[in-house]
Amino acid sequence: MQTKALPGFREFYPADLALRTHIFRTWRTVAMRYGFEEYDGPPLEPLELYTAKSGDEIVGQLYNFTDKGGREVALRPEMTPTLARMVAARANGLKKPIRWFSIPQLFRYERQQRGRLREHFQLNCDLIGEPGPLGDAEIIALALDVVRAFGLGPSDVRVRLSDRRVLHALLLGAGVTEPQLPDAYEAVDKIERMERGALAQRLIAAGVSTEAAEGVFAVAALRGLAAVEAALAKVPGGPAAGASLRRVVDALAAMGLADFVEVDLTIVRGLAYYTGTVFELFDAGRTLRAICGGGRYDDLLEALGGVALPALGFGMGDVVLAELLRERGLVPADTSSIDVFLAAITEADLPHVLALAHELRDAGFRAEYALGAQAVGKQLKLADARNARFAVVIGPDDRARGEVVIKDLAGKGQAGVPRDRALERLSEMVRN
Ligand code: HAM
Repeated sequence: MQTKALPGFREFYPADLALRTHIFRTWRTVAMRYGFEEYDGPPLEPLELYTAKSGDEIVGQLYNFTDKGGREVALRPEMTPTLARMVAARANGLKKPIRWFSIPQLFRYERQQRGRLREHFQLNCDLIGEPGPLGDAEIIALALDVVRAFGLGPSDVRVRLSDRRVLHALLLGAGVTEPQLPDAYEAVDKIERMERGALAQRLIAAGVSTEAAEGVFAVAALRGLAAVEAALAKVPGGPAAGASLRRVVDALAAMGLADFVEVDLTIVRGLAYYTGTVFELFDAGRTLRAICGGGRYDDLLEALGGVALPALGFGMGDVVLAELLRERGLVPADTSSIDVFLAAITEADLPHVLALAHELRDAGFRAEYALGAQAVGKQLKLADARNARFAVVIGPDDRARGEVVIKDLAGKGQAGVPRDRALERLSEMVRN
């Protein structure tokens, strides 16, 4: 019998879940600072939602099957198509621009490797109904502020920024023809992962001339806004194609985020629906995979819901982010602890322990006691093992005096306290 978790699927033991909770809480806090509202959609969707627009790469990784009603369905591999459909369905009633975020679990049958699993959680933040570059800057700033909120700075994380309109103008200017553009995009996208000769061969096989293939590599080698603008100045429609990119870069600089930004045209993005700005966040040393990716997809809502609305957003995964946080020592210390551990000296004291434990829990304390009869010494060892701050010991002599004993487990002594003041006294002590 196969009982192990499937490859690429995680089990979250409490310490792992504590980190996940920290990540989700930080994601929510920062998204809400930008006025974003949380939504969710179904984890299982019609297959067609992805085959229509997501692109071959993601479709090849789908967990899809025929359900018992004969429907072709897929576990969601990404959130953007669901979002586009949901917004398009109620577009008239929603105030624009729409600022929505979600933290879905996503499923992709990927080849497992460092930073890539078969399920992951992804913060999705999308801005819908805003065509201008300030919207692009807003979304990129949000992604950067999320990583900043984890304690990461420009020496840890960079955003590599491009614009498909810029790439389009420069590739045409280099002699690539419209029908050859998808192959040229793919070559630019793969330039860091594939050998140059093999890429050139692919381009030539697609009909790109040797000279234009050289031009494609020259475009991919451009770094920084100045170099990109100088190249744009030499091609038809170049300056107009670059106007948005400049405004995005300027707005990010005005927000004090310039140190994070690298203009880099090799960021193309695998998903087929992007139309303008595209970007990815990486660790500065570039030893890990992308932490986050996103861009503008102005045509997707129309394609999926018949409503023409410009849109852009990003997805930030928890897997690479958690690796980077671990690497940089930014995982919060294990804070699992309880406030009070109650111990009974004799069996006759047990009902009194149960009563006080219940009062404490009702008052919001984290309280525990031993579930089986044990010597007091053993019970106090258990209190230590549970990281309790205080122990309350109840014995026959204390009860005769109408008291309980409160012990500070950080070694700061113990004192008898009237039973009817125990809750009040513990509240003061826990607060201090
Ligand atoms: P994506 O680039 O496919 O974009 O994924 C975004 C991020 O999710 C990646 O940078 C990575 O951190 C994480 N991720 C993706 N696949 C995996 C995996 N198999 N294992 C671990 N982490 C993974 C999208 O999904 C777009 N829908 C994002 C978007 C939202 N664009 C506009 N709005």
